[in-house]
Amino acid sequence: MTEKQRTFHITTFGCQMNEHDSEIIAGMLTEQGLVQTDDRDSADIEIMNTCSVRENADKRFFGTLGQLKHRKERDPSFTVCVCGCMMQQQSVIDTLKAKYPWVDVVFGTHNIHEFPDLLERVHRENIRLTSIYPDMEEIVEGLPAKRLFRHKALVNIMYGCNNFCTYCIVPYTRGREKSRCPEAVLSEIRDLAADGVKEVMLLGQIVNSYKGDENTGFPELIRMINDVPGIERIRFMTSHPKDLSDGLIKAFTDCDKLCKNIHLPVQAGSDRILKRMNRHYDRAKYLELVDKLRDAVPGITISTDIIVGFPGETEEDFLDTLSLVERVRYDSAFTFLYSVRNGTPAAKYPDQIPEDVKHERFGRLVELVDSISAEKNLAYLGTVQDVLVEGPSKNDKLALAGRTDGFKLVNFRVEDNSGIDPADLAGKTVKVKITDAKTFSLFGEPVL
Ligand code: 5AD
Ligand code: SF4
Repeated sequence: MTEKQRTFHITTFGCQMNEHDSEIIAGMLTEQGLVQTDDRDSADIEIMNTCSVRENADKRFFGTLGQLKHRKERDPSFTVCVCGCMMQQQSVIDTLKAKYPWVDVVFGTHNIHEFPDLLERVHRENIRLTSIYPDMEEIVEGLPAKRLFRHKALVNIMYGCNNFCTYCIVPYTRGREKSRCPEAVLSEIRDLAADGVKEVMLLGQIVNSYKGDENTGFPELIRMINDVPGIERIRFMTSHPKDLSDGLIKAFTDCDKLCKNIHLPVQAGSDRILKRMNRHYDRAKYLELVDKLRDAVPGITISTDIIVGFPGETEEDFLDTLSLVERVRYDSAFTFLYSVRNGTPAAKYPDQIPEDVKHERFGRLVELVDSISAEKNLAYLGTVQDVLVEGPSKNDKLALAGRTDGFKLVNFRVEDNSGIDPADLAGKTVKVKITDAKTFSLFGEPVL
């Protein structure tokens, strides 16, 4: 008689780095014969992959963990594992020890590869284990990943960040910058192409600071990936304006597979605030980069991250952010309320902004950002776009969803009488005529 296969569920908070770490965790456990499930309530093992970039992610984590306690009390064989950026902070480990001593496995961002062994020991020896490395000793290659999408893959090319923006916890939780060697990246991407992957998203905290070896910086790496047969699209995130080189702009014009889209976080529009944030560029330099990109790569779509209410931000500083947004006219922008992160320099700045002021400014910014996104999307009406199909649309079960080269989300329907099975279209590039444009998505009809 075979034993029932143990199931696991992963809850992922935060960015695409965490998404990819979760894919690796799922890959390793699947190799061990465990089965992934979408249903947390029935899973034998729960893994929570945490984010520490903003405080609300912390709060959501502890809230969810509190809920798991009831299940653990009823069913001691239920295994709870926590990992991710929050675990790299001693204060979090102390809180877990004091208030959540029933958590079975605690591990960090630098030792994901150890997790299957830790889990095995916890089950075999009936103990609880915490294992955290302060920094990444060396990059562990060759870990399996269970991809979220069949045709799209996340590929880490560098880890960590040396930049120390004064608001940001990442350099403390993800450690110093380390780049993978180009051969390892290329070999992974060749394997992915052989497995049907059409699009790779290159990941790094400052992906464009990649330094594989003496001769291989980020633009050179892109050129090599551009030559991998089977790969149709290359994307990357997140870029830092300080490292946006002419070589990268040239790669956009030379590499046919490099998508004409860039996520270029600006954070603020005021020089005074940018300096206090330790961003290493000013407003003029940022705008010059945007102009250069748009001159060299017509039609390139640009998105950004913006923080509202950084300590010391005056109304005038905030108006500089609004005017920068109007000048750049972003396709989309992620907007964040400044969140105090203990251990970062800005947490100690005395001139913190009151919550009501932050929220009021945030509202004005979102209104402007959204109105520009909607206007930008309207310009696509009547055009025909190449859409790489991802699968069924989230909001409309009868529709398919995919992305344009510029990363616009497009939903479209295939008529019942067309003789086309929608399931066959996943991973294919379909020409879609845009018939409707909303703030966050486009809608169209396939041109078959
Ligand atoms: N408060 C608010 N937003 C933050 N970000 C990083 N740290 C903070 C913070 N302390 C935002 C930045 C970054 C994005 C990933 O998260 O805009 O680009
Ligand atoms: Fe954080 Fe700045 Fe590094 Fe980005 S560049 S991860 S915002 S410290």
